[in-house]
Amino acid sequence: LYIGVDLGTSAVKLLLMDENGDIKNIVSREYPLHFPKPGWSEQNPEDWYNGFMDGTKELIKDCDKSQIDGISFSGQMHGLVILDEKDQVIRPAILWNDGRTQAECDYLNKEIGREKISSYTANMAFPGFTAPKLLWLKKHEPENFAKIKKIMLPKDYIAYCLSKVHCTDVSDASGMLLFDVENKCWSKEMLELCDLKEEQLAKIYESYEVVGTVTEEIAKELEIPTTTKVIAGGGDNAVAAVGTGTVGNGMCSISLGTSGTVFIVNDNFAVDDQNALHSFAHADGKYHFMGVMLSAASCNKWWMDEIIKTKEYGNEQAGITELGQNNVYFLPYLMGERTPHNNPNARGAFVGMNMGTTREDMTQAVLEGVAFAIRDSFEITKSLGVNVERIRIAGGGAKSPLWCKIMANVLNVKVDKTNSEEGPAFGAAILAAVGCGKYSNVEEATKKLISIVETTEQDAELVEKYNVKYNVFKEIYPALKDVYE
Ligand code: XUL
Repeated sequence: LYIGVDLGTSAVKLLLMDENGDIKNIVSREYPLHFPKPGWSEQNPEDWYNGFMDGTKELIKDCDKSQIDGISFSGQMHGLVILDEKDQVIRPAILWNDGRTQAECDYLNKEIGREKISSYTANMAFPGFTAPKLLWLKKHEPENFAKIKKIMLPKDYIAYCLSKVHCTDVSDASGMLLFDVENKCWSKEMLELCDLKEEQLAKIYESYEVVGTVTEEIAKELEIPTTTKVIAGGGDNAVAAVGTGTVGNGMCSISLGTSGTVFIVNDNFAVDDQNALHSFAHADGKYHFMGVMLSAASCNKWWMDEIIKTKEYGNEQAGITELGQNNVYFLPYLMGERTPHNNPNARGAFVGMNMGTTREDMTQAVLEGVAFAIRDSFEITKSLGVNVERIRIAGGGAKSPLWCKIMANVLNVKVDKTNSEEGPAFGAAILAAVGCGKYSNVEEATKKLISIVETTEQDAELVEKYNVKYNVFKEIYPALKDVYE
């Protein structure tokens, strides 16, 4: 048996997979997200750990626990977790969607120079990335910076709690801006720029490699064998791509999670000259490009939970029938935006309401606004010559048939759903199985375990209507940009 852990931003999702790749159980535990100041975003690593332990006990309560072979992870990327010399967490983790580091990014991209940073790391600095957070910490919390013994990423902190090994993997390390993505090692130049020593960073593994076994205390508490292997795992987008079988040159997946991402596999390392897309290592041993919007399914969650105040997302969407005919637009930048605007100060907006506008029109605008913002990243990939005709979809938002239909028509692609809706957790379980030797590599495992179960096709008329609307959508951010400064 294999446990896949998806350490997300709103919850940890846990999945139990058997030897045949069948999913035996799924459990999740939510935890709070803190916004101490506008644009800041933090979480307590203890909340992740408690959610993981509590959820895992429930996940495995009815199975033969002696059969558990391995555990692996998918983790929210970029988050800064710092440990002191006693391996205690020094301060709350600063997350991927935190926008406090504009000054540090300007220093890296403008003073040091984007090309130079990109030559060290294959990427430019974005506020969510880890290195700018370390520079911020050094300036604003020097006492905490001085205490740092180890720098961890969120899922690596859980792997550490289980195994006592300070580890990370190539896909997640790629998002730190401290990692030489092409050569898969820490960048000496970036360490120097951030005043760090290599000992402060974790040991790097491929996502499917074993980092150790669980400690005796963990084995006892979870009632699992002490031989249970801990496998490095990866950043959530790379692992979601494994979970949807997005393995193989040119394949594309889109995730509608808290963030929204367009993920394209590159079997060979490449960087786009403008650094418009991230160039990261994939969890299968190869590479990928990625565009990231910071608020995707979270826009709908905010709209439904905070404004409409209902958990019945499906009922609300059932009232939406007239796609392509909505005159209301929504800018989904509730936490600022990364690709393509790169502006942590951007914010949400509804535009175009009139006296006849209904609540459903606004709900629809939220779903469409996210799809249009995903299209922004998708257009960049097309401009790099990547021709994508179908995509695999993952993330909480993919559970909505209406949203899948909107995506297919806004992007003009076929949208495939695969056999597990739990892309990242399933991908993590697959990495565990590969690490335990059940499959010889990630590609073989995904070929055996993943199949397409449903395809949403686009409709030429609706595609055209959405083309017109996308052209309007594209005008709104530039028109509002100065309002946000
Ligand atoms: C990727 C990114 C997000 C987080 C979400 O660069 O910032 O997709 O990984 O968990």
